[in-house]
Amino acid sequence: MSNPFKPTAGRIPPVLVGRKNIIADFEYALEDGPGAPGRLMFLTGARGVGKTVMLDVLGDKAKNLGWTVINETAESGFTDRLMEQLRSIGKDTDVVSYDMPKTSVEAGGYKASLDLGKINFDNRQRQTLSLRRAFTKQLDMVEKQGKGLLVTLDEVQSSSLDEMRSLSVAMQHLIREHRNVAFLFAGLPNAVGEVLDDKVITFLQRAEREHLGAVDNGDVLKSFDEIFGTGKHASMDVLIELTKATHGYPFMIQLVGYWAWRCSDQNGHSDRVSIDDAEEGIGMAKTKLGDMVHAQALKGLPAQTINYLLAMSLDDDVSRTGDVARRMERSPQFANIYRMRLVDEDIIEPAGRGFVRFKLPYLRDYLREHAAFLQMRGNVEEL
Ligand SMILES: Nc1ncnc2c1ncn2[C@@H]1O[C@H](COP(=O)(O)OP(=O)(O)OP(=O)(O)O)[C@@H](O)[C@H]1O
Ligand SMILES: [Mg+2]
Repeated sequence: MSNPFKPTAGRIPPVLVGRKNIIADFEYALEDGPGAPGRLMFLTGARGVGKTVMLDVLGDKAKNLGWTVINETAESGFTDRLMEQLRSIGKDTDVVSYDMPKTSVEAGGYKASLDLGKINFDNRQRQTLSLRRAFTKQLDMVEKQGKGLLVTLDEVQSSSLDEMRSLSVAMQHLIREHRNVAFLFAGLPNAVGEVLDDKVITFLQRAEREHLGAVDNGDVLKSFDEIFGTGKHASMDVLIELTKATHGYPFMIQLVGYWAWRCSDQNGHSDRVSIDDAEEGIGMAKTKLGDMVHAQALKGLPAQTINYLLAMSLDDDVSRTGDVARRMERSPQFANIYRMRLVDEDIIEPAGRGFVRFKLPYLRDYLREHAAFLQMRGNVEEL
């Protein structure tokens, strides 16, 4: 039997653990009609916590209701790609200028005074208008059939702030016009925070925010029981061991499941997972988590934040923030800047006054193993 676990970014897992409330909220918002608060939502959380998967799962819920769903990633040029997608369903042309009937108009969220006839818009205004028009055309079509349009935008990042502004203004109009539309955004907490801090995007600040975290251990156990039950016998001890190793962290659920399954196959146990198979699988899963998640999560961080983590990794349990600063040879105020950034990013968490602990499972082990390399990278960056 083929391995049911899929430790691949963005893949909908064999059993989706937890997240029931978010799904219920979103389904309610779809049924509730235009203007329902859950139709505008930001999903944030650490790497591998399941943001992309949730966009897909919620997208499927909308599709089940007959909605049109468009998925995009917020890298540079996404508004153009979004319009292309809208057009490929609807057919539309770019807006370069509009014939204006009045002397003062509000267009794309900007008031423009003009003398006569025709006005040319600057880039952002044009982008907003083009988006509005593309959306409106598509919505005219789907609404006629009593359906709606959902747009999901993954990997929200501050580098595409300008395009987010255009989209935000276009969205504001669509919502004000009671169009049957919904928008879901996903991104790392810090990136989403940076985008929402922008003054032009005030409208989006009212969107709901769902901060995805670890899922419940009981739910993880149930899902392992269900999935292994389809092809391999696993005792309760084995299931508990596997569950504990995940720390409720979604990517680790897939990795632990996948490697336990695979190691048992390799050890000739086609119909069962022994405790030794499970332990071997957990070991493999930890290594892979380092390559696939920790290395990625650390890549985008400034050198001093990595030094902060390295300083923390010397402790076996929680770390005293004063000790961390001392190990970094920095003032507590300086270290605090990096502590806040790491808390924002869901990498560490406060553990009572003056203490912090790791939030991403097994990060301490990874840092200890790779300390020399990470330190070197930090030094190179500081040159
Ligand atoms: N609720 C869940 N239950 C079980 N497995 C999950 C769940 N959510 C996500 N996963 C699994 O975790 C892995 C990572 O999910 P996903 O790629 O959606 O994370 P992400 O938050 O988008 O990460 P990144 O920040 O790197 O984009 C995938 O293998 C996915 O199948
Ligand atoms: Mg993702």
